[in-house]
Amino acid sequence: MNMELFKTLKENWDKDGHRRYHDRDYHQNYLHPSGSFKRKVDLLTPLLSLFQDRIVVDIGSNVGIITYEIAWYAKKYIGVEIWDDAYKQSLFVQKYIEKEGVFLNQSMEEFLSKNEYDYNAAYAGNVLYYFTDKEVKLMEDVMLPKCKIVIFLSCEEKKYETEVEPPIRNDLYNTESLKDILKKSGFSVEVIATKEVPLNAVVGKRN
Ligand SMILES: C[S@@+](CC[C@H](N)C(=O)[O-])C[C@H]1O[C@@H](n2cnc3c(N)ncnc32)[C@H](O)[C@@H]1O
Repeated sequence: MNMELFKTLKENWDKDGHRRYHDRDYHQNYLHPSGSFKRKVDLLTPLLSLFQDRIVVDIGSNVGIITYEIAWYAKKYIGVEIWDDAYKQSLFVQKYIEKEGVFLNQSMEEFLSKNEYDYNAAYAGNVLYYFTDKEVKLMEDVMLPKCKIVIFLSCEEKKYETEVEPPIRNDLYNTESLKDILKKSGFSVEVIATKEVPLNAVVGKRN
């Protein structure tokens, strides 16, 4: 995403009211070279061509800016976001995405239980550790068997809970657990590691 567009999005989000991410300087973080979003995008950019011509589910799509990056490569995208404020902001980003796709204001439990959409790839960055046991099981039983390519990001230092986020319910923030769940579903797994702050991409592929 070029910074011109990012500033346009930020102005719109700011107009939209007082938001948690606004409070936390979330957008400035993205613009900052050491910000967590920038580090994520730098890690993901060389990997996104793996989504070429795929229909990609973005699990916990938040305001949709990673979905925007994914959509450059994907054939279609499906962003699933439980939090309605973030979902509403993603609808503004959607205007700038030239590919076919949809943002859904749903939990992954609802999305996977209904099982209405076709897809063959998935991305999850910093969200799987919020999943209930039921959502983890649905992911293993319903979603992973449909996917040829999966990119999960680890968040090795996720050891604390904040007041605003849901509780951490499992250990799907660490690389080994993410590798295990993908291997169990029959993927061959590769880890692309970053050095300074631990943030790894766990990539699962199958034929
Ligand atoms: C840390 S953000 C990740 C944003 C972005 N996808 C990325 O890679 O940076 C996690 C998002 O997942 C959403 N989320 C958490 N649990 C969820 C669930 N069970 N179903 C759908 N979305 C969920 C949160 O509301 C939040 O917007």
